[in-house]
Amino acid sequence: MKVNKKDYSTIWVEKNKVKIIDQTKLPFKFVIKELSSLKSFFNAIKKMEVRGAPLIGVTAAFGLALEVYRNPNKSNILKSYRTLCNSRPTAINLKWALDEIIKVILKMPPEQRGLESMKIANKIRNDDINSCKQIGKYGLEVIKKIYKKKKKCVNILTHCNAGWLATVDWGTALAPIFYAKKKKIPIHIWVDETRPRNQGALLTSWELKNENISHTVIVDNAGGHLMQNKQIDMCLVGSDRTTISGNVCNKIGTYLKAVVAYENKIPFFVALPTSTIDKKIKKISDIPIELRDGDELSKVNLKIKNKFISMNVYAKDTPTLNPAFDVTPKKFITKLITEKGICDPKQELIKKLLGN
Ligand code: MRU
Repeated sequence: MKVNKKDYSTIWVEKNKVKIIDQTKLPFKFVIKELSSLKSFFNAIKKMEVRGAPLIGVTAAFGLALEVYRNPNKSNILKSYRTLCNSRPTAINLKWALDEIIKVILKMPPEQRGLESMKIANKIRNDDINSCKQIGKYGLEVIKKIYKKKKKCVNILTHCNAGWLATVDWGTALAPIFYAKKKKIPIHIWVDETRPRNQGALLTSWELKNENISHTVIVDNAGGHLMQNKQIDMCLVGSDRTTISGNVCNKIGTYLKAVVAYENKIPFFVALPTSTIDKKIKKISDIPIELRDGDELSKVNLKIKNKFISMNVYAKDTPTLNPAFDVTPKKFITKLITEKGICDPKQELIKKLLGN
C-alpha cells in the first residue's frame, strides 16, 4: 500500500538485508529498520515492532532463514525454532511458518539448508500477499451485497488492526474495505481504539487515512451503543488462530463485539488466511492466550514536542491483568472469509475449504 505516494510492504528483502517498518513508532514517525540477528527478529516480534498474525509468521520465517544461513546445524536450527516460537504464543501463523521451513530443510544436507530456508520464507511472504488480495475480493462481494440492499453508505465496525500492517500487504479485514473503496462503494469505518495498545486508533486509522477512507475512532465500549442504534451494518475483524471447528481467537474485546452483534442481528465476519487455522487444537481453552505486561494498562505514551514520554495514568501499584486475546465461539460468527472462499464456521465446511 502507499505511504507518501510510495509503495511499501511491511517486510522485504533489499540487497540481502531484511527490512521492516517499525510499527511502535506509527503514526508519528515512519521508521524503517533492518533485522540481522536472531535476537533482533525475536525482539521485533516480542516488542511488537512487527505485529499481526500473518506478519509475525513471515518475520519469524525470515529470522529462522537468516540463522540457518549462519549456522545450518540441526541443534542450532531447533534451538532457534524454539526461541522464535516463544516470542509470541497466540497467533498460530508463527509456528505454522516455522514448521513450513523445518519440515523441508531437516531432510536436506546442511550446506543446502540456508538457501532453501530463504526460498521458503520468500514464498510464505508472497503467498501472504496473494491470500490477502483474494480475501479482499471475496470480502468485497459481502460489502457489495449489503450495499445493494441498503443503497446507502455501508457502516463497518473493525477491531484492532487487521490491515496491511498486520500482514505483508493488503491486510485481512481491511482488504475488502480497500477493494470497496477502489470500486467506489460508499463505506464508513468505525474503528475500535483497541486498548491497551491502541492498534485501532494508531494503525488502522493511519491506514484508512492514507487511502482516503471515511472513518471514525471510537472507544472500545462504544460499539454496543452504535449497534443498538443501527449505526453499524456489519462487523469485520481478523483472526490470530481459528479452530478447525470455526471458533476465532482474536484481539481482546472481539468476543464482546461479536456477542453484541449477535444480540442486534448484525452480521459478524472474520477475515483470515487459512494459515491461521489450527487443525490440531481440540478445545478453545487450549489456545494459549498471551498475557502482557500490566504497564500497558497503567502507562500511556505521550508525544510532547517531538519527544515520547511514558506516564502513569493510575497508581503504580494497582493490580492489573492484561490478556491480549479472547476467543469468539462460532455461534456468534456469521461467515469466515478466506483466500479459498467464504464459509460458515462449521468443521465440515472448513475442512472442505481446506481440501481435506
Ligand atoms: O497484538 P497484535 O497487534 O499482534 O494483534 C493483532 C490482531 O489481533 C489482529 O486482529 C490479528 O492478528 C489478525 S491480523 C490480520
